[in-house]
Amino acid sequence: MNDNPIILAIESSCDDTSAAVYFDSKIRSNITSTQLIHKKYGGVLPEMASRLHQQHIIPVVQEALDEAGYKIFDIDAIAFTRGPGLLGSLLVGVSFAKAFALARSIPMMDVNHMQAHILAHFIENPKPAFPFLCLTVSGGHTQIVQVNDYLDMQVLGSTIDDAAGEAFDKTAKMLGLPYPGGPLLDQQARNGNPLAFKFAEPKVDGLNFSYSGLKTSVLYFLQKQTKTDKHFIQNNLADLCASVQYTIVKILIEKLLKAAGETGISEIAISGGVSANSRLRKEINRVGMQNGWNTFIPRLEYCTDNAAMIAMVGYYKYLNQDFCSQKISALARWPV
Ligand code: KG4
Ligand code: ZN
Repeated sequence: MNDNPIILAIESSCDDTSAAVYFDSKIRSNITSTQLIHKKYGGVLPEMASRLHQQHIIPVVQEALDEAGYKIFDIDAIAFTRGPGLLGSLLVGVSFAKAFALARSIPMMDVNHMQAHILAHFIENPKPAFPFLCLTVSGGHTQIVQVNDYLDMQVLGSTIDDAAGEAFDKTAKMLGLPYPGGPLLDQQARNGNPLAFKFAEPKVDGLNFSYSGLKTSVLYFLQKQTKTDKHFIQNNLADLCASVQYTIVKILIEKLLKAAGETGISEIAISGGVSANSRLRKEINRVGMQNGWNTFIPRLEYCTDNAAMIAMVGYYKYLNQDFCSQKISALARWPV
């Protein structure tokens, strides 16, 4: 076995088609094609996402190979997202990887997308030391994970209903912002007062999260206000966004503080699409300074879905010779 392999990685779990090449401790390329068409429909249309992955996967892989300066025949192993995600989307990446591995007679590594969001922290320096806590916040997940080693992770808490990204996207939609609303809500919030309006904060036991109460509280508040003032949202958009964002982030930080207290771990990381949120990034650093944490926040490119993070899990699986067979199929649900 080659102990310094050139790895091609593929990500296709939702609406981003991405390919990356990893060699000698470095990501050599990371190309992502985002399907913007879903904006028109206010959410990801699974059937359309799958068809677009089929159209994009070969050009995206070609561009990743070209940028890294390699040919198909240079690749030693292929890593791919097996789940969790949209089944039709995952199937495109899984089928591509299987065909590639078969044609080239090279090993393949099946990757858990949520583990990959966490190992995004090992793409560049500074890297967290084990054990560390990772708050993984995306469109489909909200978890606090204790990471003991590259591939040894334990979920300490997770959402019992909506994910934080979903809370951002759904409240943004109520405020008239197009999908995906999270980044747009973040932008609007920059000019608003985070304490202008107060929304429900759930009380959930242990290290679990809940966001459905917040969503309902925003909905009822808006219904009440717009009955007497048709332009209420328009006239208060920045304050509404800032207040919603304040509440979502406050809930995340409180649970992270609790997890750090209970475990005694002070290496704290955030990952996943919502870790791109400007308030969360600021708050993690502020609270981290107060509590003597070493905090780790990925570069924006590595927060949202990308194949570079898939390559990282693939690399550590390769070192363990943890390869998968041609018989495996995609998994819509797959716990960390
Ligand atoms: O990890 P990701 O790219 O895809 C999933 O695996 O779900 O996360 C996407 C989520 C979406 O809900 C999106 O609105 C949210 O991340 N997001 C943000 C920001 N950027 C992306 N939420 C709040 N503020 C942002 N700046
Ligand atoms: Zn993701």
